[in-house]
Amino acid sequence: MPTSMGGGKRVGVAFLGCGYAADFYGPTLPNYPEISLIGAYDPEEERAKTFVAEYGGRLFGSMEEVLADPEVRIVVNLTPTARHYTVNRAALSAGKHVYCEKPMTTNMAEARELASLAAQRGLLLCSAPATVFSRSAQTLVRAVHDGVVGTPRLAYASLDMGPLAFMAYRDWRSKRGVPWPYREEVANGCVLEHAGYLLTWLTAMFGPVVRMSGHTVTPFADQWEGVVADVAPETSFGALRFADGTVCRLTIGWAAPADKSLLVVGDEGVLSVDDVWQASSPVTLRRRVRTTGRDTGYLAEPERLPFVLPPLEHGYDDEAHDLTVGAGIADLARAVLTGDRPPLGAEFSLHILDVSLRFATAATADEHIDVPAPSATRLWGDRYRHPAEFSALA
Ligand SMILES: NC(=O)c1ccc[n+]([C@@H]2O[C@H](COP(=O)([O-])OP(=O)(O)OC[C@H]3O[C@@H](n4cnc5c(N)ncnc54)[C@H](O)[C@@H]3O)[C@@H](O)[C@H]2O)c1
Repeated sequence: MPTSMGGGKRVGVAFLGCGYAADFYGPTLPNYPEISLIGAYDPEEERAKTFVAEYGGRLFGSMEEVLADPEVRIVVNLTPTARHYTVNRAALSAGKHVYCEKPMTTNMAEARELASLAAQRGLLLCSAPATVFSRSAQTLVRAVHDGVVGTPRLAYASLDMGPLAFMAYRDWRSKRGVPWPYREEVANGCVLEHAGYLLTWLTAMFGPVVRMSGHTVTPFADQWEGVVADVAPETSFGALRFADGTVCRLTIGWAAPADKSLLVVGDEGVLSVDDVWQASSPVTLRRRVRTTGRDTGYLAEPERLPFVLPPLEHGYDDEAHDLTVGAGIADLARAVLTGDRPPLGAEFSLHILDVSLRFATAATADEHIDVPAPSATRLWGDRYRHPAEFSALA
């Protein structure tokens, strides 16, 4: 087993898939001494070549070669979503622990099959996203569990990424120049791509989802003609009840302007994070105070909570992405070394996938009860009234 410079044990890791997302991982790996990067494979050889040149390890000639290498104990699956199931199954069958990018598969039957294969073989199966390991997330989760705002009752969570259809997504390139695979992302839809980023935080704070409803819309479907055959969700709204009783209004989308905020309302105050996409976004507390009867506020001035974790030394040098992706692999590596259960293990990951899939196929308008329509189509009237007109009528 390889050892780190500090003498600690390290776990050999190999990457399958060296596309756009691989550049989020590579720069964060040096933060984690328990990871030893053995190498990488991609059928587009140039991508694997540039990956190992930039981040280390050796070039593998095939997936089979990776899976046959006894030094490789964890396979990181960064292949396109449609390949996740077959690549995960091949890796588990070859006796490797698996860390897979989200979503682990595109349906629950396959995900459950993978989880039981891993259990039978005594292997660990984890899935991204890992932003729940960020300083912001850990500070927020700790504060909620410590009862800083009393009992949590309500949460408002948004991951609106901005209106993708109107952005220059065709030009986006990773650090090594790999184009953003927009056709695949748009075909998967915002929910499969992004719901996990918030669901992991919410589930870590409040326990599993026990009840949910959702509504999915495609407001800019016309913009995707010629890009994808079927437009997947562009925005989903939901209401989720968690095991501890907290209810959350959740929005996931790429149609509205960006809003990546999260608010937890408890009976003793309110906690908030402005941007869950940034690993070091401040966590703010506003405690409930007694009101004087002379004002309508009930919250003290905002105070910034100290982060429970130090900043990471190595990160992805792009202002838009302050992510903690490597933390998920490191946590799996630690679990391989200690025999502990990794937080992002199969049970947790399957639940996040289950809720994401339910959310992605949430009710569309025609499945809802129609509200009886009044005969007039414009209830308000024909024109705007200036306040002066009202006083003239009086
Ligand atoms: N693009 C993003 O911003 C982003 C961010 C986070 C996570 N993700 C997730 O990461 C995964 C990969 O996304 P991406 O954007 O890097 O896609 P990508 O298309 O840029 O890269 C995927 C790579 O996998 C390679 N590949 C295909 N089959 C393979 C195999 N059997 N073995 C090894 N390599 C194989 C492809 O040649 C390609 O280079 C997806 O699940 C996606 O949801 C993407």
